[in-house]
Amino acid sequence: MSGPLELFASCQPGLEPLLLGELSALEIEGDAQRGGVAFTGDAATVQRCGLWLGTASHLLMRITQFRCRALGELQRKAAELPWRQWLRAHVPIAVKATTRGSRVYHTSAVEERVENAIATALGKAPPKAEPGDEIVAHIHVRFREDVCTVSIDAASTPLHRRGYRLDGRKAPLREDLAHALVLASGWQPGEALLDPFCGSGTIVIEAAAIAQGLPPGRLRAPALQHLALFDSRGWEKTFKERRPAIASLLAGGDRDAGAIEASKANAERAGVAAAITLHEGAVTTHPWLQAAGAPERGVLVTNPPFGVRVSDAAKLVPLYQTLGHRAARLGAAWRVAVLANDVRLCRRTGLVLTTAFTSKHGGLQVAAMVGSTALAERAGR
Ligand SMILES: C[S@@+](CC[C@H](N)C(=O)[O-])C[C@H]1O[C@@H](n2cnc3c(N)ncnc32)[C@H](O)[C@@H]1O
Repeated sequence: MSGPLELFASCQPGLEPLLLGELSALEIEGDAQRGGVAFTGDAATVQRCGLWLGTASHLLMRITQFRCRALGELQRKAAELPWRQWLRAHVPIAVKATTRGSRVYHTSAVEERVENAIATALGKAPPKAEPGDEIVAHIHVRFREDVCTVSIDAASTPLHRRGYRLDGRKAPLREDLAHALVLASGWQPGEALLDPFCGSGTIVIEAAAIAQGLPPGRLRAPALQHLALFDSRGWEKTFKERRPAIASLLAGGDRDAGAIEASKANAERAGVAAAITLHEGAVTTHPWLQAAGAPERGVLVTNPPFGVRVSDAAKLVPLYQTLGHRAARLGAAWRVAVLANDVRLCRRTGLVLTTAFTSKHGGLQVAAMVGSTALAERAGR
């Protein structure tokens, strides 16, 4: 393959600056754009990114871009591409097209033409992905104003699916959002971290992996493994990379026994169970939220129950107020980060919080609010 690969790490909206920071920690210079970060690199770069990026959802390799105004032209140009360099003939493919402002607008026809082109280039049609297939080469064809861009996803499944959370409780937080919240909270390995509404444990598990220097993609199939670009020798070296482990006190709590069981099982699978203390009980009973029960300094990072309907939000006001009061008692050396769908509800904590990022979660707009443990005078009560 000649020249560097043109790469785009996509992320949930609002996470672009955090993703740019993660790339910079890998000494990769990127250009933050809406929906992700563009950068260049080789197959080794792709494999490192697949291993280390905690806030990305996809890793796209742009293989070509050309002007195109007709389906016949698309099939001809797509058939000239060196698909054998990228695809393995036995790996199922899924071609997905999107179009906007272009003469070519029929997405199913675009998908069919690109599939035909691939079959021509490979000498036979690769299998088409079926629902439930784990190993799939995802090919994205994007038409914007008559410019066609073709990309291949370097990962077979989205990067936020780390592989440890087989057991998700109700409304588990996506792993990339949990990772982003931990980064946005300003928590550093070595500091204590508490999530008193831990559900399936995602936030503490992501933090524990960071503290132990473990890459977010360690449990997944390596990026590129399903493609012809995979470099197994390079991967063996990349996979051994670890950051220094720094002992940190990490605690989770939830009043639901099933949630604590799920957190334990997930933490075991993630290989971080020994680093986390879990407590079954209401937020008010967490040992760290009792007088003088907490480490001297740390960060309370949490995703409390969401108030989706107005009536739910009203019922949740006392819980958010309790959270604020308990957080305030942790003292001035603690900080707070809350991810919720209702900013007004967050304000009812009485804490002075500012928005670190806004994003989407399960179709809802969510905000990550961060601040100190100081209570505002007369705040929303
Ligand atoms: C939005 S979920 C947290 C999801 C979690 N971040 C995850 O990734 O799975 C909120 C959690 O708060 C718990 N919860 C609700 N009220 C509580 C209370 N008073 N004390 C402790 N936990 C509570 C629920 O059982 C639920 O697991």
